[in-house]
Amino acid sequence: MYVCICKAISDKQLEEANKTSKSFNDMCKNLGLGSDCGACIQDALQYLQNSPTSPHNKDNSK
Ligand code: FES
Repeated sequence: MYVCICKAISDKQLEEANKTSKSFNDMCKNLGLGSDCGACIQDALQYLQNSPTSPHNKDNSK
């Protein structure tokens, strides 16, 4: 599934980049996420917050 249509960034790419990035902004910069129309930023944030492997997931912070 594509998270960012403009840059053809998939959910798998997002999860991989999220593991190695210092912050969400750092990840966006590295991937180019949101660098065109910007419509994907909120969806990407929401996706990562709901991802079971994401450090941004509240359930993983215990
Ligand atoms: S959908 Fe990601 S920049 Fe347009």
